[in-house]
Formats: sequence, structure tokens, C-alpha cells
Amino acid sequence: MPALAGCGGRTQSSLAPESHAAKDIASLFWWMMGGAWIGLGLVVALLLWSWQRRKRRGFGRDSGGVKPGERVGWLVVVGAGIVVPIVLLATLFVISDVFVIKTTEAPAANATRLTVRVVGHEWWWEVRYPRKGVVTANELHIPARTPVRLEVTTADVIHSFWVPQLNRTIDAIPGKTNAIELYAEAPGRYRGQCDEFCGLQHAHMAFSVDAEPPAVFRRWLAAQARPAAAPASAAAQRGERAFLDGACSTCHTIRGTSAHGYVGPDLTHLASRTTLAALAIPNTRRTLADWITDSQAVKPGNQMPDFRLTGKRLQALLAYLEGLR
Ligand code: CUA
Repeated sequence: MPALAGCGGRTQSSLAPESHAAKDIASLFWWMMGGAWIGLGLVVALLLWSWQRRKRRGFGRDSGGVKPGERVGWLVVVGAGIVVPIVLLATLFVISDVFVIKTTEAPAANATRLTVRVVGHEWWWEVRYPRKGVVTANELHIPARTPVRLEVTTADVIHSFWVPQLNRTIDAIPGKTNAIELYAEAPGRYRGQCDEFCGLQHAHMAFSVDAEPPAVFRRWLAAQARPAAAPASAAAQRGERAFLDGACSTCHTIRGTSAHGYVGPDLTHLASRTTLAALAIPNTRRTLADWITDSQAVKPGNQMPDFRLTGKRLQALLAYLEGLR
């Protein structure tokens, strides 16, 4: 799908880990997979062996009375059926819930330089950098090789934040804030996905994490902290008026203007984002026009009404929004 060509970048797989936590999770998976295959191999071998043995002896001849060989059978049943599973499961429990979970945990709030707050909405992600007053949507930026404290909650139903290459999932639960570490070893764009069924557009509730060299990240954050750019042309000025006087401003915020809505994403630096609608479509003039005029055709069920704007009014609005770098 060409629409996603600009959004993916790297593979969205927990078996291609790019952080220490994701590596621990991946190796736990491979060890469990290896163990499971060995177990399956043993069971199948035993099954074949007993089948062969029974066939050699002939059916029905060994019925009646406990024979000495059957004591060994009982030992196998108790050993392989009860003792070995208990030992194996207890070991796995300790390794996963004590050691691996530890490596995925968030750095303490006072021990980290950067905290990012993510709020799940039906069906997009609000992203906040509290210390800088930055609010954006769906495209997180973090410095590479820096442990970031990620705090996750929700404005409506339960969602789950998951970047398979970077860490385990973390649930977004109403009235509760969960924290996890976000860490990327190498700069790049990592794709994430909502991992808890949350309604019609759950599958289109994606996001990305851009891990950047720290200097690049600092420049990005400083630019995002600035209020919106003033309209640069007459058309953009008309667009700003249309935005502020119309329905747009009741749902969206543009910092530095009178638009303070909080139903939809903050649009202060909309043009600096590469995608729209939680990575559903790339952010171009044409797709933005499609979205404004008939967002229900792009992403059915989303909360944005269809405005059926056309002609000059639409072009003015596009000119204004495209200037929000
Ligand atoms: Cu949000 Cu699934």
C-alpha cells in the first residue's frame, strides 16, 4: 500500500529488537520456542516408541495385572507430566516476571532527563512533552541511546501502546497512568501499533517513534515548543479566520491562537508531521484535503465530521494548515 510507504521505515517486529529490553524479550521468546520444540520432539518420539512397542507385542496381550514395566510408566507420567512442567514453568516465571520485566521498566521520574506522556484516544495518540509544553500527535520523537520515561494513559477506552522493536506493550487504562522505558539503540523510525482492541479503527491506531541524534531531537523539541507560525499569505490569513470562526477550533488546539479544543489532535505544527489520522495516510496537500472534506471515507467511524468544504474556502484552509510547520 503506497500510502504507508512513508510511515513504516523499519519492520514492526519484536524479533528485530533495537533496545536492551526488546533484546531480552526476543531471547526469552527464542529460548521458550527452543524448549517447546525439544518438548514436542520428546513427546512425539515417546509416542512413536510406545506405538512401535505395542505393535511388536501385539494388541490386548498384556491386559490384566500390573507388570513390573508399568512402574516405570508411572514414574514417567509423574516425572514428565507433573514434576518437569512445574519446574519448567516456575523457572520461566522467575526469568520472565523477575528478570526480563525488570529490564523493561521505566526509569524513575526524577532520574531521567526526558518524560513523554502519551494519551490514547479513539483512534489516535496524543503526545506530550510536559516540561516544554509541547503537544503533538501520533509521531513521537526521542533522542537515540537515551532512556526515556514514557507515561501512558487514555482519554476514553482501554488502548495499549506497543513498539515491538523497542519494548513490551503497556496498557492505557482510564484513570491510571502506566510507565515504561522507551529506548532506541540506533536512530531511525520505529512503527508502533495499538495492541488492545478499542473499536472500529483499532487497526488504524498506529504511531511512530523517531529516534534521533540528541542534537537533532533538541532542535525538533525547541521548534515544537514555539507557538504556531502566523499565516504567511492572504489565502492563509483567510484560512486562519475560517479555522478559528468555524467548527475546527472547537475540537482542535493551535497554540498562539484562540483555538483550544481538545477532542482532536493539537495542530500547532501539523505541517511538520509526515502522516495524518494515526499513520493512516501520508500528510500531503491532497490527502489533507481528502481528510477535511470527507474524513469518514478515509477512516470510517472517526470523530471528525465531514465538512464538505470546497473551492476557495478549502484552498484557504489548506494554505493555512500547510504553513503550520
Ligand atoms: Cu486503541 Cu486499539
